[in-house]
Amino acid sequence: MSNIVSYDERVKNFSWKIAEDELDYKPGQPINIGWYCSDRICQMGKGDKYALLWENAMGVEKKYTYNDLRLTSNTIGHFLRSVGIEAEDRVCIFLERIPELYLSFVGILKIGAIAQPLFSAFGEESLFIRLENAGTKAIITQRKHLGKVRKIVDKLPNLKHIIVVDHDGKKELMDNEVVFSLETATPVEDLKIHPTVAESPSVLHYTSGTTGQPKGVKHVHYSLISQYLTTKWVLDLQDDDIYWCTADPGWVTGTSYGIIGPFSMGVTQCVLEAGFSAEAWYKFIEKYKISMWYSAPTAIRSLMKAGEEIIKKFNLSSLRHLASVGEPLNSEAVIWSERVLGMPFYDTYWQTETGSMILCNYPGMKVKPGSMGKPFPGITAAILDIKTFEPVAQGVVGLIGLKPDWPALMRTYWANEETFKKKFENGWYLPGDRARIDSDGYYWFVGRDDDVINTGGHLVSPFEVESALLEHEAVAESAVVSKPDEINMEVVKAFVTLKPGFEANDDTELLIMNFIRKKLSPLAMPQEIEFIEKLPKTRSGKIMRRILHAQEWGEEIGDTSTLEDD
Ligand code: WT7
Repeated sequence: MSNIVSYDERVKNFSWKIAEDELDYKPGQPINIGWYCSDRICQMGKGDKYALLWENAMGVEKKYTYNDLRLTSNTIGHFLRSVGIEAEDRVCIFLERIPELYLSFVGILKIGAIAQPLFSAFGEESLFIRLENAGTKAIITQRKHLGKVRKIVDKLPNLKHIIVVDHDGKKELMDNEVVFSLETATPVEDLKIHPTVAESPSVLHYTSGTTGQPKGVKHVHYSLISQYLTTKWVLDLQDDDIYWCTADPGWVTGTSYGIIGPFSMGVTQCVLEAGFSAEAWYKFIEKYKISMWYSAPTAIRSLMKAGEEIIKKFNLSSLRHLASVGEPLNSEAVIWSERVLGMPFYDTYWQTETGSMILCNYPGMKVKPGSMGKPFPGITAAILDIKTFEPVAQGVVGLIGLKPDWPALMRTYWANEETFKKKFENGWYLPGDRARIDSDGYYWFVGRDDDVINTGGHLVSPFEVESALLEHEAVAESAVVSKPDEINMEVVKAFVTLKPGFEANDDTELLIMNFIRKKLSPLAMPQEIEFIEKLPKTRSGKIMRRILHAQEWGEEIGDTSTLEDD
């Protein structure tokens, strides 16, 4: 039987106290996610159970029990304290998906510091912006990424400690660089857990918006209440499950449901530290007998593309339940998985700011392929009119609105309270997406309400790409929009007008591409630059990305009354 038993019943009798009681949490008492993810599970008698089964591309394996997780996170927490890290200091985790990423996340939370995970493929500019904004005090990284940190450390007066977890002694370290190795550190049996309370900050994740720099989404320890219960009821994790979340903890799915959710439930989870390949993924499921799998539409579409013959080579009979997040899950993908894997992918909708799942498909509830499902019990959602922010009639497209009263909602954008406030209207939190509700109460995604591009589940700010382009000497103006793509749904396309003296040709495109590559995350790189004579603009001179977007997607251009005259 599934954990949720009956969606309708759960909605009727819902209270977040259900999760508080299951976690033995009483309002006003300390609550520490790191403790819940390790010590508590050991206290429940599951110390010898595997917490983490890890494998890399070379087939090297590492295994950690809950007691190992408790000890290693203690050891890392103790080390961080010993170099001077205090509660609420920001500690950036800049690691590939190696075990230290997961273990140090738990360790950072235990000492009450704020975990700031950043995607290890970020270049130095992307890293710099985020470390500067957060005033980060320490960064945990590995040899291969040290070069990027060294390039920016002089511009970051708050960054006092650079901690290298895989130092091999070959490279000479600088004064502010220290070595930490789980292999040689003395395990710390007893660590004083910092008495964080519900509103103590826990995690800082960066996300892109349409304008301005990336925003630091601040979460608190109380988010555990939502993360635990959604993991239990939506992902349906049960004691004997082997769980695989394919997301990197540089992004929120990889922390809320790749660390906090499964560990707080005491479930065994697997991590594959390797790039995508259909063969490797199926092999991983077969080898570890994965039963619950949380992935993303772009990965599913890539598996579809790899074909069905390859699936037949593997025994995937361990799979019991599948879920997806991050971008629209097209109905074809759901129908494909029903046919090929014998069960649908259950779509879930949420975002960095919401901290936990918002709209979901639940075990036992009919899946309508293409729909995001229904609000999690305890979430009050509605579709709102884009001007009045009042709920619209059923079937009408409008803005998703959420009553800001669930435990995991962000508490602010770091050092950017003004932008945070703009996310609320008429008593509703606005995620910035448009949708409609059908007559059965299911939500259907329509699109984003801003110009942010969602490429393969990663949000890209057109503004960031345009700013990078404008720094190149040849670029006069630029406008960045999405264009359709079979696998990633959307990819980034840049329109550029050149300054006099530069020629629109392949050489210029290559020069510009190489220039912006250093500034942008690989995920934000345009697939194409198109040189044009003139960008469409409003009479007041604002670039109309909407027109270029419609052109790329073969859509009607709509109202052009504000378009500049020739
Ligand atoms: C944005 C949030 C939290 C998961 C990782 C992404 C889009 C997310 C869905 C879905 C259609 C979706 C929305 C949302 N999105 N899930 N099931 N169907 N769109 O977190 O980077 O903060 O992105 O991703 O536009 O606002 P994120």
